[in-house]
Amino acid sequence: MTISFAQIILFTITAILIFSTPSTAQAGILSHPFKKVYAFGDAETDTGNTRSATGPTIFRFVSNHPYGQSFFGRPTNRYSDGRLMIDFLAEALSLPYLPPYRNKTADKSHGVNFAYAGSTALTHSFFLSNNLTLNIIPVSLQTQLSWFNEFLEKERCSGSPALFRCKAEYINDALFWVGEMGANDYAYSYRSSVPAETIQELATTRVIEFVQALLNKGAKYILVQGLHPTGCLTLSLATAPSDDRDKMGCVASVNNKIYTHNTILQSKLNNLQIKFPQAIIVYANYWNAFYHVFENSDEYGFNEKFKACCGSGCGTYKFDALFACGSPPSTACNNPFEYLNWDGGHLTEATYKVLADLFINGAYCEPTFSFLLSNKMQSG
Ligand SMILES: *[C@@H]1O[C@H](CO)[C@@H](O)[C@H](O)[C@H]1NC(C)=O
Ligand SMILES: *[C@@H]1O[C@H](CO)[C@@H](O)[C@H](O)[C@H]1NC(C)=O
Repeated sequence: MTISFAQIILFTITAILIFSTPSTAQAGILSHPFKKVYAFGDAETDTGNTRSATGPTIFRFVSNHPYGQSFFGRPTNRYSDGRLMIDFLAEALSLPYLPPYRNKTADKSHGVNFAYAGSTALTHSFFLSNNLTLNIIPVSLQTQLSWFNEFLEKERCSGSPALFRCKAEYINDALFWVGEMGANDYAYSYRSSVPAETIQELATTRVIEFVQALLNKGAKYILVQGLHPTGCLTLSLATAPSDDRDKMGCVASVNNKIYTHNTILQSKLNNLQIKFPQAIIVYANYWNAFYHVFENSDEYGFNEKFKACCGSGCGTYKFDALFACGSPPSTACNNPFEYLNWDGGHLTEATYKVLADLFINGAYCEPTFSFLLSNKMQSG
């Protein structure tokens, strides 16, 4: 591909507008590299698809105060005190926050969020057949893919002539954000007889099949997040034996499984990229990004790495699975921006903000997110 001088100039101007004035109105169309974003994932990406009755049992008080208090001023069914990474992405792309798919009346012209708290990479039937009854949430990546198909159908974007017309707008030119997926699979099979190797192999395969399904539809810009060290979550620390720790001070048995999962996932994604050279598949190295924040927490103003900001219980961790954040006896710290962890199972807005910045503007995506953006802008 040859790039003309004019394209270089245009790209430079675009880049200046995007990176120096991310949300000014004057930046106009040049600041909208993507018109549509689709998100998938678990609670870390869910902007409201689950509520008290349908989400994870422990965090069933998500519709209550003080969820959402740091930014929205009210609960929005996000599993945090404010914005998630996907919200910071929307801001960076000058797009409205992605509406949850299950909100029938929301404006979905800029994209949709299919992420669902408690959902898994493996299908629900796997957990049922292995008697892993912790998994009460019958939503997997496969389910989210079928919702995406339903969405395209509703937009009259399926069937061959229609698909041809819609494909460019709805698929080729869109950004697909595949948020963390698989953390729940490990949580539900924790201390079960199902070997970690089985989950690692099956969960990474399901994620790859999902990404491949998007690629087969014509997706060209896909970001896939790995898993963060979930052994550093308050609930892991509060439930694992106190001698099960790694050099970060987190739960070693959990983190080791997650680390291996990421290694397998990344290598499978590399193979997929080779099979689909016309697409850009970005691996968002969530492990490394989280590790960076964790090890440099002082620099980012975090004073508390292990304890939850919101919850109940007088132990080291302020976590009680029966009376989690939002339940009547729970209380919240008044400085959530100094905490990595919000409710025991999910991170604070402050943490998500730093992480989103590391992915969007930093070097924690492979290739970088700015590479993906410049490629999109060059192809119009
Ligand atoms: C659904 O979206 C509409 C429009 O944005 C909003 O007014 C409404 O509150 C949302 N419903 C729920 C249940 O969040
Ligand atoms: C699940 O539980 C049922 C009933 O207790 C038992 O018959 C079956 O063997 C169990 N399956 C596994 C995979 O442990």
